[in-house]
Amino acid sequence: MLRIKCNRLVVGSNPTRGVKKIFVGAIRESPLYHFGSKGFDIQSRVGVLMSQGDNLQDNQWQGQWLLASEVTFLNHGSFGACPWPVLQAQQRLQSRLEKEPVRFFAREWEPLLDEARNQLADFVGAAREDVVFVANATMGVNAVLRSLRFQPGDEILTTDHLYNACRNALEWVAATTNARIVVAPVPFPLADTREIVTAVMDRVSPRTKLAVLDHITSQTALVFPIASLVRKLAAVGVDTLVDGAQAPGAVSLNLAELGAAYYTGNCHKWLCAPKGSGFLYVRRDKQEMIRPPVISHGANSPRTDKSRFQLEFDWMGTDDPTPYLCLPVVLEFMGSLVEGGWPGLMAQNRDLALQARRLLADGLGVQLPCPEGAIGSMAVVPLPETAAQFPAAALQDALYDQYQIQVKINPPWGDDIWLIRVSAQIYNHQSQYEKLLWALKQLLHLV
Ligand SMILES: Cc1ncc(COP(=O)(O)O)c(C=O)c1O
Repeated sequence: MLRIKCNRLVVGSNPTRGVKKIFVGAIRESPLYHFGSKGFDIQSRVGVLMSQGDNLQDNQWQGQWLLASEVTFLNHGSFGACPWPVLQAQQRLQSRLEKEPVRFFAREWEPLLDEARNQLADFVGAAREDVVFVANATMGVNAVLRSLRFQPGDEILTTDHLYNACRNALEWVAATTNARIVVAPVPFPLADTREIVTAVMDRVSPRTKLAVLDHITSQTALVFPIASLVRKLAAVGVDTLVDGAQAPGAVSLNLAELGAAYYTGNCHKWLCAPKGSGFLYVRRDKQEMIRPPVISHGANSPRTDKSRFQLEFDWMGTDDPTPYLCLPVVLEFMGSLVEGGWPGLMAQNRDLALQARRLLADGLGVQLPCPEGAIGSMAVVPLPETAAQFPAAALQDALYDQYQIQVKINPPWGDDIWLIRVSAQIYNHQSQYEKLLWALKQLLHLV
């Protein structure tokens, strides 16, 4: 059993969130993780912050991350950002591995792996037997697509919001099997999330074998009504592969209840785990078919205590397992930052994303492009017409180079809608979006 002690520190208030007390999960001792007698350095980090007096109110969360203080970091959605106490836990695990690599992999790695998997499975509402780790969601999507057998003329249904890397995987599989990709155009701007369901279901045909759908889209930051989509597709005999790269930690998950055949997600985005930690859920009745992208020892393992599905994915050759081994620490640490735990954190981030998009839309004089029901921890806002004078990348670069604002500006959607995507993680605060608005107005000559 992982034993964790949490210290409750009252460190001030933050008017933008109305949080009076924060809990800092100081993970002091653990027989599994061997943090050592000093535990995390978080006490001294918090001590440094507290000695900064009033600055603490603005930076109380930011101080838990290594993010450069001179940068206004509004792009958690691209690669996530890992907090300092978690990175320390990872370094301790790495040291433990390197002190005795053979002992670590032969005796210690698998109990740690199982503990991490169990905790993650519980967090995403899946049976522990149905979850394996992968390095990232792209790998999860590839594992499923490249394992399934398609016949010429079979149709794989997706939408025009699918993430580019996954679309490429789909193209490759379709090209090598002569399957056909059918792309459902999902309206954007979007008036009602039911339009997403209609758009997808309108393209189902008797030849549809699989639907590949984002849970939260990257370019448009839409939270798809995934439960409704999966249910309606299943009702007409179509399995769904959900790309949930942006979902864990942004929206609550219950994969057993969702019932999708396949679901992959990242832990390194909204859970804030170290990079290289993702997972793949495969419904029990589909596991036989799904093989990892790398075939290794698990393929002919005589073991019977675990399924071949888990034995194969658990070992894809020697690699650094510490990103996913940190998950118990990640779940505990991030879940202890606000009262209300994980649901409280997700709600707080969503509120901030909603506030940010309202601020930007009002300030830029543009319409909100989707209903609140489609918002998680990210939001996009269309840019006014004057943005068209810049290539998207040039505007993104100008914000960074001239104003030190890290934010995502997407290539035009449908050729004429320029979208800026903001992320909202606990270390962000409203004044950062105000700075972004001010910088955009300067750059777009709106002042
Ligand atoms: C919707 C979506 N799918 C897949 C990915 C790929 O994630 P990764 O590079 O971690 O595999 C991303 C990354 O931003 C994403 O937003």
